[in-house]
Amino acid sequence: MHFQFSEEQLMIQQAARDFAQNECLPGVIERDEKQQFPYDQIWKLSELGFMGMMTGSQYGGAGMDTISYVLAMEEISKVDASVSVCMSVNNSLVCWGLEHYGTEEQKQQYLVPLAQGRKSGQLYIGAFLLSEPEAGSDATSQQTIAEDKGDYYIINGTKNWITNGGTASVYLVMAQTDASKGSKGIDTFIVEKNSPGVTVGAKENKLGIRGSDTHSIMFQDVKVPKANRIGEHGFGFRYAMKTLEGGRIGIAAQALGIASGAYERAVAYAKQRKAFGKEIAQHQAIQFKLADMATRIEAARLLCLRAAWEKDNGGDYALSSSMAKVYASETAMWVTTEAVQIHGGYGYVKEYHVERMMRDAKITQIYEGTSEVQRIVIGRGILK
Ligand code: CAA
Repeated sequence: MHFQFSEEQLMIQQAARDFAQNECLPGVIERDEKQQFPYDQIWKLSELGFMGMMTGSQYGGAGMDTISYVLAMEEISKVDASVSVCMSVNNSLVCWGLEHYGTEEQKQQYLVPLAQGRKSGQLYIGAFLLSEPEAGSDATSQQTIAEDKGDYYIINGTKNWITNGGTASVYLVMAQTDASKGSKGIDTFIVEKNSPGVTVGAKENKLGIRGSDTHSIMFQDVKVPKANRIGEHGFGFRYAMKTLEGGRIGIAAQALGIASGAYERAVAYAKQRKAFGKEIAQHQAIQFKLADMATRIEAARLLCLRAAWEKDNGGDYALSSSMAKVYASETAMWVTTEAVQIHGGYGYVKEYHVERMMRDAKITQIYEGTSEVQRIVIGRGILK
């Protein structure tokens, strides 16, 4: 067992750290306040090859491993989780699934520009459309219908809380094709956003990750060629679950980054703020908080890296990705709350960043499977 990163992994970590400091930190408070999508940052991420980090170079990606992805996600999430969620969805939920289950034609047409993050000089990213108004955790209860019409499908329905919803050019849409078959009557389709009948709803006004672009998407008689179905008929739900296994590693790494970003700010603040005649870091009440924060963050990091390692080495990572996500997201919520507490009144105002991190942390316990869903997956996995 080696607790050591390769030189390449360390270079990627450093590149992500520099990117976060130089490109994400300036303006992060304003983007959050104005709910402004970080277009310039995502464009620059595509230049770095980070929008298709794990996709093979033959399909426009950077061909990096999942460990590198975790390192990059942590560094970027330390500074701006609205940037990192966009990157995570495109990498894990869009490019990975297309590369592993798409046809060669689908890869050439969609994966190549998605992994590059651009097409014809414009941003070109994707979104993953599973959640619905009545189907969040209970993801098999899809109400969106895709009717088989021979060589095409007609899709009708509404999807909710779609990350990258307004900015994406390509949607991966899960829809029911045979209600009598339950989870085996669901298919996944590649739908271009500019298809007739697709409507993008208003941008959600969120608690956190306010720069990210979250919308509902409506489909009314949207015609999709059969060639745009991913995998065999009835594979759509399993496709979503397999894809989410990797997605959960990305969100775990995002939560880890939010936690470690808040922790670093709390340490720096505790070393310079004085109370009762000495730096507050010298008070045991604060030291104990910092000690617990550091310990939990390290445990979360090891779980993330373990899941990534299993994925890179062909193991079954369903359990380890859920463990990483539930632990890292709960760590992020707890650590950011403690970071606000250490900052006192300053922590409650925007200039000190930690209140935003606390708001951003909350979503990591909800999206890509709530903490309760992760416990279902873990519980079933250990008892089977
Ligand atoms: N890999 C392969 N197959 C899987 C699988 C996996 N990981 N998980 C389940 N399946 C298969 C099962 O084996 C089962 O097949 P059989 O009938 O042949 O046994 C079938 O799929 C149905 O599975 P379950 O019986 O386990 O289904 P369930 O209804 O009990 O639900 C669940 C299980 C874990 C709760 C699942 O519904 C789930 O993960 N829900 C949460 C959905 C989610 O994460 N949504 C996030 C939305 S995306 C998002 O947030 C992105 C974003 O914008 C950031």
